[in-house]
Amino acid sequence: MTATSSVLGATDREDAARVLARCDELGALSSRPDALERVHLSGEHAAANALVAGWLRAAGATSTHVDQAGNVRGRLEGREPGLPALVLGSHLDTVPDAGRYDGPLGVVLAVEVLARLARAQTEDGLEMPCALEVVGFGDEEGVRFATALLGSRALAGSWDETWWDGLVDAGGTSLRAAAEAFGLDPARVGEAALRPEQVVGYLETHIEQGPLLEEADLPLGVVTGIAGARRFRVTVVGEARHAGGTPWDRRRDALTGAAEVVLAVEREARAAGAVATTGWARVEPGALNVIPGRVELGVDLRAETDALRDATWDAVLLAAQATCAARALTLEVEEVHCAPAVACAPRLADAVAAGITAVTGEPAPRRLPSWAGHDAMAVAGLTDVGMLFVRCAGGISHAPGESVRGDDVALALDAFEAAVLAVVSQVG
Ligand code: HGY
Ligand code: MN
Ligand code: MN
Repeated sequence: MTATSSVLGATDREDAARVLARCDELGALSSRPDALERVHLSGEHAAANALVAGWLRAAGATSTHVDQAGNVRGRLEGREPGLPALVLGSHLDTVPDAGRYDGPLGVVLAVEVLARLARAQTEDGLEMPCALEVVGFGDEEGVRFATALLGSRALAGSWDETWWDGLVDAGGTSLRAAAEAFGLDPARVGEAALRPEQVVGYLETHIEQGPLLEEADLPLGVVTGIAGARRFRVTVVGEARHAGGTPWDRRRDALTGAAEVVLAVEREARAAGAVATTGWARVEPGALNVIPGRVELGVDLRAETDALRDATWDAVLLAAQATCAARALTLEVEEVHCAPAVACAPRLADAVAAGITAVTGEPAPRRLPSWAGHDAMAVAGLTDVGMLFVRCAGGISHAPGESVRGDDVALALDAFEAAVLAVVSQVG
């Protein structure tokens, strides 16, 4: 038995088992029979919201609702109604062929923390100088509408009205039409926003999505900050012509040019110490015997600072322009997402560290940056943010093999609760 597992009691393990069972329940809400995929404003999203709202009510939330951006929310009032809130959350949408924990684990743990504090209010007379608000964000991944963090941007008050008609999914449905079909009123999206004076901070628990905690044999870590990200749709245009009849000197093959762009993305990001991925590609017209005339690429780029990220992109762009010029191709670049790097607030990082210390006995919990994006990035525009990381098996995420240990989840719940209480005591 390790030092950390010895602090867990039977109730902790029961709570962790319920958390995992709830992640399984959410994991069953998928648009695909063979894999997990749940995108923004879909039928599965509505079902997930209903499930979470039911759990929030059972946990003792004073009120629950789905806001005008499609986020599910539950509030536990403090010692008097209407006090500023400590917001806890994560997201309910997934990537295609997803795992069950990226997002949902943080939402379900937040519901459990609300339940524990509601019980402490009624049974132990806990007096909270602030309210608690739990949010299950509807869009973090950006799978359906290509831009990410729609839910948390609505909450943070950084909504962009051009998104309603400017963002269109692969089936041609605009964000406006999808929202209306979901029962939302686009004109009222401002009602989803919180004002700075209505909040005392934001805490999110998430699986690490990388291997560092596992390599260090640690169940939990304190997030120091979140890497800045940019995403682009890069289009290389050549000329579709006969694959047999066109001599080499007449070819303007968009795919060979795009292949060089893909390699430039990898080369420049590696050289800079950033990470970048060309995660999708579409080749037109897409026939074996036709020279590709047009290729669209989706590129995701992240770095610890915005300056490094932007310099890396500039280098990629230079290389892509040179390639396209040499091959007589046209290059079109559209930025579809930009999120600045975010530092977690020291007071919240310290509260998370204190929570970990309280449950593991580790005096100096591991601190690490997040290379993955999170709702906390958008919420940072509204208030201070802090994050707790939970070890995941093999560092695997954005894949069905995502997995967490029950004991780690039990520790995460205790540490998250302790961190929340530490922040509440800062208010009081
Ligand atoms: O892509 C990301 O970083 C996040 O998991 N949405
Ligand atoms: Mn993700
Ligand atoms: Mn996530």
